[in-house]
Amino acid sequence: MKKNILITGGAGFIGSHVVRLFVNKYPNYNIFNLDKLTYAGNLLNLTDIKNSSNYKFIKGDICDENFVDKVFNSYEIDSVIHLAAESHVDRSILNPMEFINTNIIGTVTLLNIAKKYWTNNQNNLFYHISTDEVYGSLENQIDFFTENTSYDPKSPYSAAKASSDHFVRAYKNTFNLPIVISNCSNNYGPNQFPEKLIPLAINNIKNQKPIPIYGKGENIRDWLYVEDHAKAIDIIFHYGKNGETYNIGGSNEWKNIDLIYLLCKIMDKKLNRPEYESAKLISFVKDRAGHDLRYAIDSSKIQNHLNWKPEMTFEKGLEKTVDWYLSNEEWLNNTISGEYKNYYKKQYEN
Ligand code: NAD
Ligand code: DAU
Repeated sequence: MKKNILITGGAGFIGSHVVRLFVNKYPNYNIFNLDKLTYAGNLLNLTDIKNSSNYKFIKGDICDENFVDKVFNSYEIDSVIHLAAESHVDRSILNPMEFINTNIIGTVTLLNIAKKYWTNNQNNLFYHISTDEVYGSLENQIDFFTENTSYDPKSPYSAAKASSDHFVRAYKNTFNLPIVISNCSNNYGPNQFPEKLIPLAINNIKNQKPIPIYGKGENIRDWLYVEDHAKAIDIIFHYGKNGETYNIGGSNEWKNIDLIYLLCKIMDKKLNRPEYESAKLISFVKDRAGHDLRYAIDSSKIQNHLNWKPEMTFEKGLEKTVDWYLSNEEWLNNTISGEYKNYYKKQYEN
């Protein structure tokens, strides 16, 4: 069946992996990548598929109702995979309003236009990509987030994402819009903007700059390789049940400090530095305000119902990620010039 799929935020980190997977795997689908190209969006992420006959890039803002309406009308959009968002917690602490605009208003704008065009809801789907951060912070080492865990967001970023999740479910309940939501743990891999822990540390280690670790580095995250997330999105898009939520996680919990030691070890080898050399760059800095202690996902629902599981091991995934950053200098230099410098100064040098 022919599909006209609108992928929002497809020039970003996860979005670009999802776009690539769909463009290559489904030649019969038309993939429309709608992206505003904020500081986090980068068309260099998609140079390999940019001329594919089933792919089109559309620059624009999901908050602009007239523009989104025209896109649905012109390309007869029948499904949405919605990734566009402001995604960095530290930036949400510096400037919450941007997060309310894009993550809440932008999502509701898309929902309204989908509702307008999808009159009989046959073969339509609004797939909303969300985060495990909506569940809040686990304060012990034994609990996991399940799909039934109550929402308890604690940062402006996660509060805005939680709000968008609620709107998506409300449109299902009130207007019968076909929807599905997934909440995923921390992604890592090629193309991630170097404001996030792993690529920031890789860039700093490469340049012999301090690696800033918030607080004591005791916070725990559950890491998933980005291509494993993209594969889960593919499966949920095709086989997920209307109205359902699926948690996606790596079953791969790491304390930040332990992760950074492992990364330093890998990079010492790659850069032919003496063992333990890069670890000397570790620098404990002021903690993130309201820093969530631990995230951990119970992904048994997607594993049991949809037969997905993570494929990449963490050591191999980290090594592939380091290799990618070390061999993509142009991408990295392009990304860390300009706006990034101002952000870095504000965040780390005050
Ligand atoms: P990212 O910041 O790398 O990319 C976001 C993309 O959205 C960029 O290309 C940007 O240009 C685009 N965008 C931002 N505002 C827009 C607007 N108003 N209109 C159109 N496009 C806009 O983000 P990411 O890390 O790839 O995350 C993608 C999605 O996945 C987000 O919804 C995020 O909440 C969710 N998520 C991320 C992670 C993670 O670990 N990165 C984990 C779980 C869920
Ligand atoms: O859990 C999913 C979420 O993961 C996504 O929804 C977000 O979009 C994504 O940014 C990510 O959020 P985190 O806040 O967990 O990721 P980040 O890479 O910013 O930080 C990971 C951990 O490392 C966190 O405990 C904070 C810490 N950290 C981060 C930075 C940038 C540091 O210690 N130093 C740093 O400089």
